[in-house]
Amino acid sequence: MRRMAFLELRNISKSYGKNRVLDKVSLTAEKSEFLVILGASGEGKSTILNIISGVIRPDEGEVVIDGRVVDDSNKTYVPPELRDIGYVFQNYALYPHMSAFDNIAFPLKMRKLPEEEIKKRVREVAEMLRISHVLDHKPSQLSGGQQQRVAVARAIVKQPKLLLMDEPFSNIDPALRASVRWEIKTLVKQVGITTVMATHDQEEAMSLADKILILHKGKIIQTGTPEEIYNRPVNTYVADFVGGMNILPANILIPQIESIAELKSLSVENIGYIGFRAEHTRLDDQGIKAE
Ligand SMILES: Nc1ncnc2c1ncn2[C@@H]1O[C@H](COP(=O)(O)OP(=O)(O)O)[C@@H](O)[C@H]1O
Ligand SMILES: [Mg+2]
Repeated sequence: MRRMAFLELRNISKSYGKNRVLDKVSLTAEKSEFLVILGASGEGKSTILNIISGVIRPDEGEVVIDGRVVDDSNKTYVPPELRDIGYVFQNYALYPHMSAFDNIAFPLKMRKLPEEEIKKRVREVAEMLRISHVLDHKPSQLSGGQQQRVAVARAIVKQPKLLLMDEPFSNIDPALRASVRWEIKTLVKQVGITTVMATHDQEEAMSLADKILILHKGKIIQTGTPEEIYNRPVNTYVADFVGGMNILPANILIPQIESIAELKSLSVENIGYIGFRAEHTRLDDQGIKAE
């Protein structure tokens, strides 16, 4: 039997009316891997996360978590509360009338854990996220960064199998974003939890991901490490989307090509455009040079 990835989406399709949002999307995440789905607004990132969590059902395809088919877009359907997933929403979705402590404790209370166990776990996770001193505050009394930590704490306190984060840093003050990102990344690596994050921010994807998946027009058009995506974009869309490449139409003479067959073996994107990034360009007394 073939070894299965920890999380697997197989040929997932989803349409709203005539709008085919996801078109046979497949992806895998290994245990403890940090996956980032990168795509512009409206490309279907949240839809993928919601299909993994079970809030939305796909029209076609299968979702497999830890060796178990949780949705086969037919009769098999495990509801969200039985999937053992932590979810951090873009707007955090904290309960406004509850203290930070009660927000974090909520999933444990739902599971009817003993009071002492709840206190212990909330304190532990609050310690890790450095929010111990604000546990009696209401969300409105917390900074954006603190609210986000409370949301992360609530998502991981029940020690779920999988952590989903939907644009979790977009409401954080840009000046703090890099350090908050780094802390969250360190935390999820420390806990060793398999994570899928959605973002439209290429820099964020680059700095956090073990593996990036580029979502465009309903398809995953490239999967790779940040370095692979940056250095070897599959087409001009990815090249430009990830770190703004200068792309010029070009007539490319390839004298070493001997036959039409050899020419055809090149991908179309290798013919007709030349791309280079600003950091690979220098200006000297003879003009601009791309290296
Ligand atoms: N409940 C819905 N009904 C109709 N269209 C929807 C619904 N949810 C999402 N969409 C459409 O699906 C597309 C993808 O949405 P979404 O997954 O939220 O994208 P992203 O998170 O990448 O911004 C968008 O065109 C959006 O308008
Ligand atoms: Mg979204």
